[in-house]
Amino acid sequence: MTASQPNYPSPQAVMMRLLTGYWMSQALHVAAQLGIADLLKDGPQTVAHLAAASGSHERSLYRLLRGLAGEGVFAEDEQGRFALTPLGECLRSDVPNSQRSLAIMNGEEHYRCWGELLYCVQTGKTAFDKLYGQPIFDYLASHPRQARIFDEGMVGVHGAETKAMLDAYDFQGIGTLADIGGGNGSLLAATLQRHPSLRGLLFDRPDVIERAKGYLQAAGVESRCTLKGGNFFETAPSGGDVYLMRHIIHDWNDEQSRTILRNCRKVVPSTGKLLMIESVIPPGNEPCFAKMLDLTMLTIPGGMERTESEYRALLASAGFHLSRILPTAAHVDVIECVPV
Ligand SMILES: C[S@@+](CC[C@H](N)C(=O)[O-])C[C@H]1O[C@@H](n2cnc3c(N)ncnc32)[C@H](O)[C@@H]1O
Repeated sequence: MTASQPNYPSPQAVMMRLLTGYWMSQALHVAAQLGIADLLKDGPQTVAHLAAASGSHERSLYRLLRGLAGEGVFAEDEQGRFALTPLGECLRSDVPNSQRSLAIMNGEEHYRCWGELLYCVQTGKTAFDKLYGQPIFDYLASHPRQARIFDEGMVGVHGAETKAMLDAYDFQGIGTLADIGGGNGSLLAATLQRHPSLRGLLFDRPDVIERAKGYLQAAGVESRCTLKGGNFFETAPSGGDVYLMRHIIHDWNDEQSRTILRNCRKVVPSTGKLLMIESVIPPGNEPCFAKMLDLTMLTIPGGMERTESEYRALLASAGFHLSRILPTAAHVDVIECVPV
């Protein structure tokens, strides 16, 4: 199809859609912040009811919901009531891999940081440190509300990758799987649930490990899981047969990543493996979620998404050989590495 064919959106129309992208993310942010999807979980409601329940201005809330209904997030009926659509269901707090916290997080620190993208591109520095005076993970340690939203936001953005990873990689026969930077433990919990003889070792910052305990208990896997708090720039825990890091190395620059990987190299057994779950950037101009996620890495933690050759070089410099890359049904790959 070419641009001259009927019904094909003009470059100006496509550009208009791209330019106004933040309208949508902010509208979704406000709907998530107000908990609208939760208020609609039992059926359609009037705007008067939704405004009273969410502490909003009725006419303005109507305009928000009408706008989002035009995008398929809600549906307005003939009586002016609003209902959830399958898209809107994703913003409920109580659904698997809920994206409500992701929508909240996107509209808060992330939105402010993206507002500084020009500064980041001109200087190569992160916006987060400029705006908040400290790196993101230090900030989260002293901001419990934002930390909880971040943990849940990670499930919102990466949760769907869990099943894809479990389908793509064979975890049979592994004794203990160590998840380094495993966050609230949701990935490890799902892996232990899928493989009943597997044991788990969850490692993250001490404040995060505290929050993970409840999650692992609720998932019914805490008896097979050891929790350890620490700093992966200083050490990695021994005791794993296979080590896993999902979306850890993309948070850091090459020097920082090498430190983390070398600490892992000290504890991965000679017969063991390191699995990195990341999105390997493909060559060419194809659309790829990681190409834009890369800009979030630039603005917020100061890391980057990498190509296969960049991963190979980084791993080699830390004592690992990249043995294979397994694509998954989600927008991530399993990068399997062996110690050399
Ligand atoms: C992008 S999140 C990924 C979380 C999880 N692996 C996932 O895929 O959802 C990065 C994780 O690294 C952890 N982290 C950051 N700095 C750390 C450090 N110095 N030592 C240990 N963990 C750290 C964070 O607390 C967070 O859980």
